[in-house]
Amino acid sequence: MLEPQTFYLPVRVITGIGCSDCLSEEVAKLNARKVLLVTDKGVREAGLTEEIEADLKKCCGELSVYDDVPPEPTVRDADKLGDAAREMKPDAIVGVGGGSVLDMAKGAGVLANNPGSIKDYFGTGLVKNPSVPTILLPTTAGTGSEVTPNAIFLDEEEKLKVGVVSPYNFARVAIVDAKLTLSAPPRLTAATGVDAFTHAVESYTSVRASIHSDLFAAESIRRIARSLRTVVANPGDLEARYDMALGSVYGGIALSMAGTGAVHALAYPLGGTYRIPHGVSNALLLPYVMEFNYLANLEKFCNVARLMGEPIEGLSLREGAWRAVEAIKALVEDVGIPTSLRDVGIDPSAAPELADAASQVTRLLANNPRRICRDEIQAIYERAM
Ligand SMILES: [Fe+2]
Repeated sequence: MLEPQTFYLPVRVITGIGCSDCLSEEVAKLNARKVLLVTDKGVREAGLTEEIEADLKKCCGELSVYDDVPPEPTVRDADKLGDAAREMKPDAIVGVGGGSVLDMAKGAGVLANNPGSIKDYFGTGLVKNPSVPTILLPTTAGTGSEVTPNAIFLDEEEKLKVGVVSPYNFARVAIVDAKLTLSAPPRLTAATGVDAFTHAVESYTSVRASIHSDLFAAESIRRIARSLRTVVANPGDLEARYDMALGSVYGGIALSMAGTGAVHALAYPLGGTYRIPHGVSNALLLPYVMEFNYLANLEKFCNVARLMGEPIEGLSLREGAWRAVEAIKALVEDVGIPTSLRDVGIDPSAAPELADAASQVTRLLANNPRRICRDEIQAIYERAM
């Protein structure tokens, strides 16, 4: 704790129920005349951008809507949107959607002011010129992308999800309106909710965790553990939706500081090779990686159990820590996430190949609380089959 610790929290975050009606005010503060709205067809058809589009049309001179963002966008998808952004030269980019949409909006902001393909910026700190300012409105809870410096894309050649990590990726404003998450169906709510929970637990137990990231990670764990089951069972429960929205934001802030670990590293090849959605990949692997990790930090895992509302009084530290693993398994099962890789169509013979790919994700494996080698990664995939 005597080592220097970075506290990085540059995004202005507006949270509430119905707070997205302040968007035009925020656009006006940026003096934006030309605005590019990035979304996807599902979000648009659900009517979530209707009022937003009407407001933006009133407040800016030129509005262009790009709703062609696919789930799990590729390098080609990002470059296509980048070309559109270069042509339009927007003063601001507004993203309304799940993690894929928000990451694409960030990518468009980068490419509008930087040459080449998004691939040229894979890695940390490689973006040279500041992005076009972005305003991000999540419709899931969620990736937390609205508060992180990461934009993740599928590299089809390498069959891996790869990230552009840059301080220029931080949104100028995040508008987190729980109302926008109301129409997310239970399956999506469950997968994205467990993704947010994974951000919190991985940050909390990361070797880069600090007193600062712990504040956000702990509160995220507490809120998500108490509300995820409710929003899956009762999608219209606004209070629980708000809890989840905050849990997602806090998880994103925590991961920006402390980073995610082996769950995300092992999930990336599932997205890359099998196109399994990010939330489902993480949720599927979370219990198995926690089983492996818990020994590395009994105290922190014992705290996770406490934050999840588990009775741990009278238990030893090891028993308390194991209680967290059990509570996480129960949470994932209760919200109906598939519990084995076979359930999502992956053959057990794929484990060695998946392990080869995951061991390349050293950026995230370095954060994992327990050191992990390639054979241990393969063993986790095998247990998850
Ligand atoms: Fe994630």
